[in-house]
Amino acid sequence: MSTSSNIKSFSDYQDAYNASLRNPESFWSSIAESDYVWQKKWDQVCEFDLSKAHVRWFLNAKLNITENCIDRHLTTRGDQTAIIWEPNDPQEKALEISYSQLSQEVNRTANMLKSLGVKKGDRVCLYMPMIPELAYAVLACARIGAIHSVVFAGFSAKSLADRINDASCKLLITADGGFRGAKITALKAIADDALENCPSIESVVVKRRTGTDVRMKEGRDLWWSDAIESMTDICPPESMDAEDPLFILYTSGSTGKPKGMVHSTAGYMVYAGYTFSTVFQYEEGDVYWCTADIGWITGHSYILYGPLSAGATSLMFEGVPSYPDLGRFWDIVDKYKVNIFYTAPTAIRALAQCDMELVHSHDLSSLKTLGTVGEPINEEAWNWYSENIGKGRCPIVDSWWQTETGGMMISPISGITPLKPTYAGLPLPGVQACLMDNEGNEINGMGAEGRLCIKHPWPGMARTIYGDHQRYVETYFSEYPSMYFTGDGSRRDAEGYYRITGRVDDVVIVSGHNLGTAEIENAIDEHPLVAEAAVVGYPHSIKGNAIFAFVQCDEPPDNIEDFRSEVLNLVSQQIGPIAKPEQILLVGALPKTRSGKIMRRILRKIAAGERSEFGDISTLLNPEAVNTILEDLQATNH
Ligand code: WT7
Repeated sequence: MSTSSNIKSFSDYQDAYNASLRNPESFWSSIAESDYVWQKKWDQVCEFDLSKAHVRWFLNAKLNITENCIDRHLTTRGDQTAIIWEPNDPQEKALEISYSQLSQEVNRTANMLKSLGVKKGDRVCLYMPMIPELAYAVLACARIGAIHSVVFAGFSAKSLADRINDASCKLLITADGGFRGAKITALKAIADDALENCPSIESVVVKRRTGTDVRMKEGRDLWWSDAIESMTDICPPESMDAEDPLFILYTSGSTGKPKGMVHSTAGYMVYAGYTFSTVFQYEEGDVYWCTADIGWITGHSYILYGPLSAGATSLMFEGVPSYPDLGRFWDIVDKYKVNIFYTAPTAIRALAQCDMELVHSHDLSSLKTLGTVGEPINEEAWNWYSENIGKGRCPIVDSWWQTETGGMMISPISGITPLKPTYAGLPLPGVQACLMDNEGNEINGMGAEGRLCIKHPWPGMARTIYGDHQRYVETYFSEYPSMYFTGDGSRRDAEGYYRITGRVDDVVIVSGHNLGTAEIENAIDEHPLVAEAAVVGYPHSIKGNAIFAFVQCDEPPDNIEDFRSEVLNLVSQQIGPIAKPEQILLVGALPKTRSGKIMRRILRKIAAGERSEFGDISTLLNPEAVNTILEDLQATNH
């Protein structure tokens, strides 16, 4: 059973793309058939009605994704390393976990879940550092048909509680703490805070990692080592329907609370595996490293499910790029002779600022393919990456996709499709991308700019928002009838290559993390002195974007510095440190439309440094607010 890519030349790509347009069903069914193992094949490949966001793939097929990611490899590559685990501290022993060890660990973990009463369809929340047990727990859930909901270990107690409650999770798995560079995050203590308000949680399993002192609640909390001790490593895979949910993963939206995107079992598996093998052109024996955290979709699809389904060796790194120094990424590439490296523009920009000795002192000659994801990459960073890390001989795959899409959508195929710096390039086979104007018309022809939509379902797309299908329909399928609207703007050049220009909604991507401005505003509004807050993004040289908060108070704070740190604390507590505003400006008034909406367009310009040219502001309810803000800015030396 081979899962290497069938696309070996540009004309193969064109043939595959055309075949996928002509007949999406036969295109995807032949991939599903040849690259995966099924307990029972499907009766129908696809059924959909995008106006209702109704999408089903591989109807009535039965499978278990862990049979595809683990069991089927045991006979052919049981001793091959599945996961290389590199700890935060380079002095600590790394682990090379073979496919057979992975199988044993996942089965034991699965039996532990069962012993705690977890059944098919139950939701399990994972709030863990990047340690092997996180991978075991994800796969163990999949093994028994429980739905995992991984919450990034940088989120606050409040965010964790919201996510646990939204999905009524029964079990939480966490650790005493997590190492991140020189810091320790007290994960269990944060989880304890969260659990004050989480009635659905019956048990908590705690993996010891940092040795941090923790409180264990009698009857609720258990140590991982005790809970797993007597478990056997035999656990037959649960038989899952193609459309049974595999996981929930939360992503921020323009408005309201984070959306629990629900991914399916079969469609997601086929899509994550296909895009992994195709885009990276993974070859047998390659060492592949994606630097993302498993708390994000990139880690789900391209540390775990995609690479493991292809029988790859996937590196999982616990730490941060700056510890013990800013050469750590290159140290790891050198140590394991990494062949394929996938990271984010924000990391590239930060590392490009360092002493080049940190790069040159490592042997990077093993690298064949470099990838980037998460936000638009600027030309300077693209060139730096290509020249200094790729030494001018590694293709850069700038892959555009989203939590909602499950896998890469528009991306170069390494060594096969031509590269253009800052362009994600051509849609992958099966992806019918198009551009729409603000009036709802498709923009045909090349050399155009518009809102990026997808016309036909693909197997990896999310199926719903957990508990709120109507919101799924409204957010993604209502702007343009019978199309998936991505929320991104894009340009298409004369040859049909796409360049993503950024979000066209109120989502701001800071260091590759999606943040909803409304969520941050709500957090700031919690401050007793705050009357109203307006949050926008503005360009930042390392983070891509940063957050600017315009805050109007009922009465002026006594001490402005104290006030600022209280606001920052609130945002950290309500969401997490990643959402903290870079700038907080106290303003006398916020510009509003006559219907009472804050005019963010103007605030975005002010945040970006513009001091005039605001367009027509005469229709504002309070046009004078703009000048007041400019004066407030002056007064604080901005
Ligand atoms: C948003 C989705 C997909 C995994 C990580 C982010 C932006 C993503 C690119 C890229 C330009 C990109 C988009 C998208 N984005 N990749 N290569 N070029 N922008 O997943 O957190 O769901 O964020 O990230 O704006 O909508 P996510």
